[in-house]
Amino acid sequence: MEIKTDVLVIGSGIAGLFAAHEISKYADVIVVTKKDKNESNTNYAQGGIASVIDPEDSFDKHIEDTLKAGAGLCKRDIVEILVTDGPDRINDLIRIGTEFTKKNGKLDLAKEGGHSMARIVHAKDLTGKEIERALIAKLNTIKNVKIIENTLAIDLITEHNIKKLKNEPLNNRNCWGAFVLDCNSMDVIKIAAKVTVLATGGLGQVYLHTTNPSIATGDGFAMAYRSGAKIGNMEFIQFHPTSLYRANGNESYNNPSFLISEAVRGFGGILRTIDGKEFMTKYDSRKELAPRDIVARAIDNELKVRGEEFVYLDITHKDKEEIIEHFPNIYNECLKKGIDISKDFIPVVPAAHYACGGVAVDEFARTSLKGLYACGEVSMTGVHGANRLASNSLLEAVVFAHRAAKDIKIFLKNYSHSFPDIPEWDDLGALSYDEKILISHSIKEVRQIMWDYVGIVRSNQRLDRAARRIHNIFVETEDLYKRTKIFEDILELRNIVACAHMIIKSAKLRKESRGLHYTLDYPNQLSDSKIKDTILQNLNP
Ligand code: FAD
Ligand code: SIN
Repeated sequence: MEIKTDVLVIGSGIAGLFAAHEISKYADVIVVTKKDKNESNTNYAQGGIASVIDPEDSFDKHIEDTLKAGAGLCKRDIVEILVTDGPDRINDLIRIGTEFTKKNGKLDLAKEGGHSMARIVHAKDLTGKEIERALIAKLNTIKNVKIIENTLAIDLITEHNIKKLKNEPLNNRNCWGAFVLDCNSMDVIKIAAKVTVLATGGLGQVYLHTTNPSIATGDGFAMAYRSGAKIGNMEFIQFHPTSLYRANGNESYNNPSFLISEAVRGFGGILRTIDGKEFMTKYDSRKELAPRDIVARAIDNELKVRGEEFVYLDITHKDKEEIIEHFPNIYNECLKKGIDISKDFIPVVPAAHYACGGVAVDEFARTSLKGLYACGEVSMTGVHGANRLASNSLLEAVVFAHRAAKDIKIFLKNYSHSFPDIPEWDDLGALSYDEKILISHSIKEVRQIMWDYVGIVRSNQRLDRAARRIHNIFVETEDLYKRTKIFEDILELRNIVACAHMIIKSAKLRKESRGLHYTLDYPNQLSDSKIKDTILQNLNP
């Protein structure tokens, strides 16, 4: 089966939905999404969106905070775009129908780690859910946007795959849509599109402990890598300092850890060791509100030195009514687990949270392949550098989805060629689905390896060990992939393995410690004149 459209958007989080909304003003859009349309990292975002709203705040302050968190690796011009476009995009979200929390008739602004001002626009502690609700409700009223659920993109359709081009430069080749799996009928459909927008979100599921839901298997990073697009800075995986600790581990292997928002520390939360002692003063003068890499490493160090499994986050000194008013979702979730956060300390541990690197894009979200754009968490715009500032992710997604939409309008206007004949999906040789147990074991193995050896603290020995083990799983997975009929788990395993490979490869390339990448073998930062992005490109796509 073949579908043709102007623009194919892959993913229905904030980046994909906002892009679809903007593009629908001048073209037809199909959005494919692998589960229900609201299932995304966006849907779980708690803290909010950073933007300069308070008259006491300034673009310069937000820019400086972002650059400081990014540890010398942010692109200043791109950060300036992010920050200065921010207030307009917040207004767009409000116009679309998002109801942010207000105080005395004005947007209520919260504070989070690394921010010198209160500038986090939020909807209580369920900001992402509210944004998804509003965007989906709006898109439901727009005729030329079609959202197709339970449809998983397998691979991009590229000029080089079709024409089998050899020995010619990869950059600037065309992308013409994607092969997708209809997860109900299990049919593979080709969607031919003049423009493809990759908005597939993050890759937290590559790690054993993560705040990311089960959809976050890094599909977009892997598809882009397989298609020969440039990918950057994959070593910078952000570990959120405070996910809820569970004594019995994750009930199911891909079950996310519940996040205790950074806004709780912004509200006055104090980190304590199990014996009740504060410890952040030892690590940073900003204490609990230091950037995440510092707080996560401090917790990791306390756990290793003391041989304990969690630390506490204490908010008991705050007024109960205020706690419930600000954090109704966190209060209720903890209460369900027997923790009354107005009286009890909250046991927390770091968990993989966000990918700062991704598909390399320019200021209009253009990748190195023609007709392929990437926005949201899957992209690397240059905004986050070596460490993302809290609540800059939702902002980056809307700002660059908007800019992508502007550029796509021009791209389509100048589009002159017709689609080539795209061959059918080839599953000759595929046998059956009977290898499921092998697949779930391999997924568990990858997640454990990445947690143990490619986590908050790394070393050459740990990375080498991880690389060898991931290579073995890669070989086994490719063999399975060729023999097994396509279904979700094999595709996700393949993508998880590809992401693990990219993270390890980039980590090995970075011979220094910077931001989120800390290695015992190179504990210092290189001088600023020597720093650069780690760029990967598959030269034989
Ligand atoms: P997502 O929202 O993850 O959307 C990706 C979409 O792509 C999903 O619909 C998914 O199903 C789909 N998809 C994936 N693969 C495929 C495929 N192969 N085929 C088809 N569809 C596919 N950031 C902030 O700025 N502020 C916060 O307060 C905040 N809180 C957070 C709290 C939690 C618990 C988590 C996990 C993250 C948080 N973040 C926050 C980060 C932020 O939510 C994400 O980075 C952001 O939502 C990413 O948006 P996105 O549109 O790029 O991707
Ligand atoms: C949080 O609420 O702590 C998450 C914020 C973010 O990831 O930016």
